[in-house]
Amino acid sequence: MKKINIVYGTVNGEAEFVARELTTFLDGESLENELIEHTDLPDWRPDLDELLLIVCSSTGYGDMPDEIFPWHVALEQENPSWQGLEVGLVGLGDSSYEIFNGGIAHFEKLVEKLGATLIQPTLKLDATVNYAPEEDTQEWLRGYLKQS
Ligand SMILES: Cc1cc2nc3c(=O)[nH]c(=O)nc-3n(C[C@H](O)[C@H](O)[C@H](O)COP(=O)(O)O)c2cc1C
Repeated sequence: MKKINIVYGTVNGEAEFVARELTTFLDGESLENELIEHTDLPDWRPDLDELLLIVCSSTGYGDMPDEIFPWHVALEQENPSWQGLEVGLVGLGDSSYEIFNGGIAHFEKLVEKLGATLIQPTLKLDATVNYAPEEDTQEWLRGYLKQS
């Protein structure tokens, strides 16, 4: 199994918690992984031979959190080819907001534009029903790990 890199965007820490719990889960499965810290994120670029997971909440009016925004902007501008890169997307949102999971939707568009491949349909978590998003995320990833 290839190395798994995890990027997160959070406002109040929920997406960061989910991302950190993922690293614990992957360590338990003896799968190599790395959580990309925010201080490193703006200049960090994925290795196309590794798996990229993006865990991102929504804020404002279907926006992504401020801390992940500069990375998204940089990628939009650089427009690299992500052909061959496998990506998994996990959104944390709340269906009581008008634009549900708009944050991760920005990354769905970017991934499509750059030519990467989604490992599974995006997991769009809803805070009104997904009370343990870290567990739901692990379950979602297990589905991919089983078949790879
Ligand atoms: C001010 C504010 C705005 C939000 N806007 C949205 C939104 O537009 N769409 C959505 O699906 N969820 C929205 N949410 C819900 C959050 O994305 C959700 O609670 C998520 O779990 C928060 O994760 P975080 O702590 O990592 O930011 C909003 C929450 C807050 C507090």
